[in-house]
Amino acid sequence: MAVVVTGGAGFIGSHLVEALLARGDEVHVLDDLSTGVLENVPAAATFHLHDIREPLDTIVRAVEARSIIHLAAQADVRVSVAEPGRDAAINVLGTVNVLEAARLAGARVVFASTGGAIYGECERPAREDDPCLPLSPYGAAKLAGEGYLGAFARLYGVAHVALRFGNVYGPRQNPHGEAGVVAIFLGRLLSGETCRIFGDGSQGRDYVFAGDVARAMLSALDSDVGGVLNIGTGIATTVLELYEVCRSVAGSDARAVHEAERVGELGRSVLDGGLAATAIDFHAGTSLSAGVAATWHSLQASN
Ligand SMILES: NC(=O)c1ccc[n+]([C@@H]2O[C@H](COP(=O)([O-])OP(=O)(O)OC[C@H]3O[C@@H](n4cnc5c(N)ncnc54)[C@H](O)[C@@H]3O)[C@@H](O)[C@H]2O)c1
Repeated sequence: MAVVVTGGAGFIGSHLVEALLARGDEVHVLDDLSTGVLENVPAAATFHLHDIREPLDTIVRAVEARSIIHLAAQADVRVSVAEPGRDAAINVLGTVNVLEAARLAGARVVFASTGGAIYGECERPAREDDPCLPLSPYGAAKLAGEGYLGAFARLYGVAHVALRFGNVYGPRQNPHGEAGVVAIFLGRLLSGETCRIFGDGSQGRDYVFAGDVARAMLSALDSDVGGVLNIGTGIATTVLELYEVCRSVAGSDARAVHEAERVGELGRSVLDGGLAATAIDFHAGTSLSAGVAATWHSLQASN
């Protein structure tokens, strides 16, 4: 029985595909390579060049997939603000196409959702039943995706679980992108460019290592748990603290410059992982310093 991974050529997808292959699963990566790269797809996985805005049931049925892990997305909050229609076409309609394929193939869906873009401001670690107040079209589209998951379950019995990730970081995250502050800081420290901190750097985020997220997806895949689970560490790290960790790992004493605070940016986003601990025995085991060090070494090696 096979597993289809949409977005498997991307950053998080590459960690997941590696973990699935390591345990002997038959893996089919479905990706349009808009932000992902073919080098992220190991030779042992079968690659299908496909845009999820088009139906994918033919592929999913042909490979007799037992599950679809749905990571393909327009994953940049700022792009979603600039182009909400394109974001919705990929993140809402694309998810509907994934669900249609799952229905027709009898496959279960594991959906990559987001905690950071769904809960809004967090005075304490957010729980799954807290109010959802997305601040961006990206967050609204992910929440809509979760809504469709529920509707397809009630209407057709399509089994699913949605995983709301914290701020995922690790090897292979794009250091030249606009998202992914760990990769951006480390990329700049490596090239000798000055790092920029927006506002006073007190913004707190739940940084979770990509290898831990891949483990969470495997556990969710193997269980029959449904609904929504947070995948984070429960720890809020400020941008200033993160910069210190990055500097220390890179052996640098470079100072960052502060720039104007970005409009709409959350002060604090952190996830309560209690439900995932109970439901799928997930605990994010990688410390921030170990995860940042692994990311640094991988960036150095690829340079
Ligand atoms: N990185 C994070 O911190 C984070 C946090 C919460 C949720 N997520 C979610 O996790 C998933 C993976 O994110 P990532 O950080 O690896 O991003 P990424 O951009 O590296 O990966 C997304 C992948 O989807 C592919 N893709 C995009 N549009 C497509 C389309 N129309 N058809 C087919 N493939 C398409 C891209 O080519 C890429 O390989 C996304 O769903 C994202 O929303 C990420």
